[in-house]
Amino acid sequence: MNNPTDILVENPKPGVRLVRLNRPAALNALRGRLLEELAAALTEAGEDDAVRVVVLTGNDRAFAAGADIKEMADRTVAEVLGMDRRAACWLAYRRFPKPMIAAVNGFALGGGCELAMCADIIVAGEGARFGQPEVNLGLIPGAGGTQRLTRAVGKAMAMKMVLTGETIDARAALAAGLIAEIAPPELALDRALELAELIAAKAPIAVRLAKEAVLKAAEMPLEAALDHERKLFALLFATEDRREGVAAFIEKRKPSFVGR
Ligand code: CAA
Repeated sequence: MNNPTDILVENPKPGVRLVRLNRPAALNALRGRLLEELAAALTEAGEDDAVRVVVLTGNDRAFAAGADIKEMADRTVAEVLGMDRRAACWLAYRRFPKPMIAAVNGFALGGGCELAMCADIIVAGEGARFGQPEVNLGLIPGAGGTQRLTRAVGKAMAMKMVLTGETIDARAALAAGLIAEIAPPELALDRALELAELIAAKAPIAVRLAKEAVLKAAEMPLEAALDHERKLFALLFATEDRREGVAAFIEKRKPSFVGR
């Protein structure tokens, strides 16, 4: 998309692309336009060899307060079932092949919580609130909330959140395994960028296969997943970066990875 309005895209550090959700007046509610712009930005970042890691963030008040309730107010069953474009956008988020880190402050509700869960690592500012409040609207989560949340935090906490619509704070989210770290609110993005920089300096193919292997833990039976991991591990022995990484260790110097 040529002139995105609902997202802002920056390159704050080498190898790191920052995408900010940018509908502050609507708490970054995920209207169709925003979803499309984000999908386009991720597709572009996925294809750009210079981008190693994406950091996704909102603003101080909200990461995203969910699907745009006003936009979906008059939608019929047939329209929702036929919304292939929206489904394609969500597919682009969850199939994004490079590491994605979400820096969350404020509300991450409904589709906002589901979007954060598409990231591989979530860093939350103290005061962040996560929830799946769709039940308050006579709905259920529609972009992975019943599945991804359950896999992340387990049945007990997922049931409580999905059935009551109650939100949890950053500490509870950390204890439940939904997020990786808590930071002071004003430092959550800095910390996410710091993690992104660390990852961006690693061997890109190894990073990509590591992400794939970890995601398989939630998708495949254990024996098949272990077998898959072993094959990805073996595959990396064919890369220049593996030779460089091992040589650099032996020669006591920093490795210089090229992505081959
Ligand atoms: N959609 C559209 N607009 C939204 C919105 C949403 N999800 N969330 C907030 N807004 C708008 C409000 O309408 C308001 O706009 P106006 O100033 O024009 O009235 C503005 O953002 C600020 O919001 P509030 O005044 O409500 O702010 P608050 O601090 O009093 O409350 C809140 C914050 C608790 C997050 C409250 O806004 C809220 O409950 N939002 C809805 C959260 C929600 O239900 N999300 C789930 C949506 S369904 C979904 O996501 C389906 C899915 O699985 C994909």
